[in-house]
Amino acid sequence: MLDMTDAVVVITGANGGQGLAETLLLATSGATVLAADLTAEPSAALKAGAAPHPDRIVYRQLDVTEPGGWADLAEFLHDEHARVDGLVNNAGITRRSRLLEATPADLAAVSEVNVTGALLGIQACVPLMKPGASIVNVGSVAALSGHYPVAYTASKWALRGLTIAAATELGPRGIRVNSVHPGFIETPMTSGANPAFREASIAETPLGRTGTPEEVAAVVLFLLSPMAAFVTGVDLPVDGGQSSHGGAKSISDALQ
Ligand SMILES: NC(=O)c1ccc[n+]([C@@H]2O[C@H](COP(=O)([O-])OP(=O)(O)OC[C@H]3O[C@@H](n4cnc5c(N)ncnc54)[C@H](O)[C@@H]3O)[C@@H](O)[C@H]2O)c1
Repeated sequence: MLDMTDAVVVITGANGGQGLAETLLLATSGATVLAADLTAEPSAALKAGAAPHPDRIVYRQLDVTEPGGWADLAEFLHDEHARVDGLVNNAGITRRSRLLEATPADLAAVSEVNVTGALLGIQACVPLMKPGASIVNVGSVAALSGHYPVAYTASKWALRGLTIAAATELGPRGIRVNSVHPGFIETPMTSGANPAFREASIAETPLGRTGTPEEVAAVVLFLLSPMAAFVTGVDLPVDGGQSSHGGAKSISDALQ
């Protein structure tokens, strides 16, 4: 376990799925986590998970698309801690409409959360960050491929561009910015997915299974920690190899 004692870390979308796992792992590592999500109260899962760390997880209601909410959060962080050491732009939504059915509203809704939300988070937290701070944006294998839900894929490619631009601009201030790109992870987002999507994803994954939120959280913790002190601007897949083979897996499987 990496030691993050005294670090102050903001995690969005913390009520469930990967954000919950990241919150609990960071708190276990000793960090103080500002856990944010849409609801006025934390989810039952977050409440239960936070019980062993009553002082290390502080819940805040935040819609990541609202600049005013980020301004309030930044004021709170300034008054309570006077700094931010880590930001995980994890909150995300999807629309599964395909190319010829996707509406402008689909594209706007997904982009607002997945891209604008991350930009606002960076703008709110960077003024409180000192050299050594770290930002992790949660992308997707969709950002590394031509994944079929077109609005989601477009938003994650845009988030990847935002990440690299931020890494370039914030590097001279000693602030690192990286992307993790999860494959198919078992969370509320994917629990309602078409079973064919799960099966086809597993078929493309050399490790032959879906991933867990905890497996993504471990990589996020690494990127936030000083162990990744010289790592910035990278795209780090956490996908069991799904994005690694450029389509060669089905050929390899077919010829066995
Ligand atoms: N599950 C997967 O297979 C998978 C794969 C690749 C990438 N991702 C990405 O990982 C991240 C987490 O996904 P997950 O699977 O845990 O999803 P999830 O739906 O289980 O959790 C997302 C959380 O974000 C919150 N959220 C949504 N809109 C918000 C907003 N406007 N403001 C604040 N919070 C908001 C939700 O309330 C929810 O708690 C997302 O960015 C997602 O796109 C997920």
